[in-house]
Amino acid sequence: MNVAIIGSGGREHALALKIKQSPTLENLYIIPGNPGTSLCGDNVELDITNYTSIYKFCKEKNIFFVVIGPEAPLVDGLADYLRNKNINVFGPSAKAARIESQKSFAKKMMIDNNVPTADYKEYTSDQYEKAKNYLVQSKYPLVMKADGLAAGKGVLICDNKLDGIKNLDDLFLKNKFGEAGNKIIIEEFLIGEEVSIFAITDGENFVCLPSAQDHKKIGENDTGLNTGGMGAYSPAPIITDTILREIESTIIKPIIYAMRESGNNFIGCLYAGLILTNNAIKVIEFNCRFGDPETQVVLQLLDGDFLRLLYSASIGKIEKDSVKYNGGCSLCVVASSKGYPENYEKGFEINGLNSITDPNVIIYHAGTKSVGNKIVSNGGRVLGITAYSNKINFKLAKEQVYKNLEKINFDGMYFRRDIAQKILKK
Ligand code: AMP
Ligand code: GLY
Repeated sequence: MNVAIIGSGGREHALALKIKQSPTLENLYIIPGNPGTSLCGDNVELDITNYTSIYKFCKEKNIFFVVIGPEAPLVDGLADYLRNKNINVFGPSAKAARIESQKSFAKKMMIDNNVPTADYKEYTSDQYEKAKNYLVQSKYPLVMKADGLAAGKGVLICDNKLDGIKNLDDLFLKNKFGEAGNKIIIEEFLIGEEVSIFAITDGENFVCLPSAQDHKKIGENDTGLNTGGMGAYSPAPIITDTILREIESTIIKPIIYAMRESGNNFIGCLYAGLILTNNAIKVIEFNCRFGDPETQVVLQLLDGDFLRLLYSASIGKIEKDSVKYNGGCSLCVVASSKGYPENYEKGFEINGLNSITDPNVIIYHAGTKSVGNKIVSNGGRVLGITAYSNKINFKLAKEQVYKNLEKINFDGMYFRRDIAQKILKK
């Protein structure tokens, strides 16, 4: 089978590396890919917003199956476009992708189907006074969220009334997130440990991959601004088999069923961002795609034929036994550009990539680019240094990651030194 992957981040590098291992793969193309994916297949310089050119390329190369990585093309309808042209796609329709792109849609889906989530209110920008009154009489902290996609920045924690009103003004009066902030959710602040669960589904049946924990904040000890994710590990020790069964029966199954019943059949990776509070497991958010950097760790823990899993899901006949957990653990630390998640410079030469020889260590490329025979930084999150251990030994995986990170450098390279610290302390 000839396969194309859409995207160019660390997640797509991980998807490419795993799909490459499949015995049924003939040719792999990554559109547009990065220097890391070029070692797994052919990178193709195409604009991913130009659907006609993607389709033409698929026809030319006899590509039968497309895996879409990022949320933007899914939300925009690339999966619908290609399916209408009889290409099999792993990734939801634009309608189903609203589970990520419209928080109010996701909330309603949860409430209507008794899926546990934070209590909330919803306001549109013409209800400014009403929203303000609510903020004045509420208890804090509270969480305010732009309804639409806001490049991972649309969640604002409000510590007190003043904070709440300032954030409301930013969203409704100053249009901080443009149209994405024309509607907002104000929800209860939940306390607990966060976990990411990926359910691969054909719209009806599903299989959950090993759990993972992300590190969203830029600073050590979870301080500072939110990022796309600065590191991850898998499996999350807090997710026992019993808890996973509960997540499947109270969250994943009812949502997949409700999406199907409401005409929003979801085919792809349903990413549940969960929080384990003192008395319940609640959903913080759903995403319509694999997480980044969680994918980099989760896929290392799968034996079997991952391409077969995704392909069978895409045609509505998921073969759940295509993969199984291999009993190991994995840990990833993201090396980012100085200044990320705010302003940063790009174009710095990355040194030391060839000095990594440990077979259990993989350097996933995210924001990188080839310039002549050099590789330079080309984004906020630049690399994901990942180590695998065939037993649950996070201490070993962590040592391997940090030891190898020392061999790599570029101007302004930043990384957190405390990834997985919390579980190692326990
Ligand atoms: P999201 O963009 O929805 O993933 O939110 C980003 C981060 O904000 C989450 O990973 C949480 O750390 C935090 N967050 C979102 N919603 C809540 C909530 N209701 N209570 C506490 N923290 C939250
Ligand atoms: N790592 C968080 C996300 O992919 O949304």
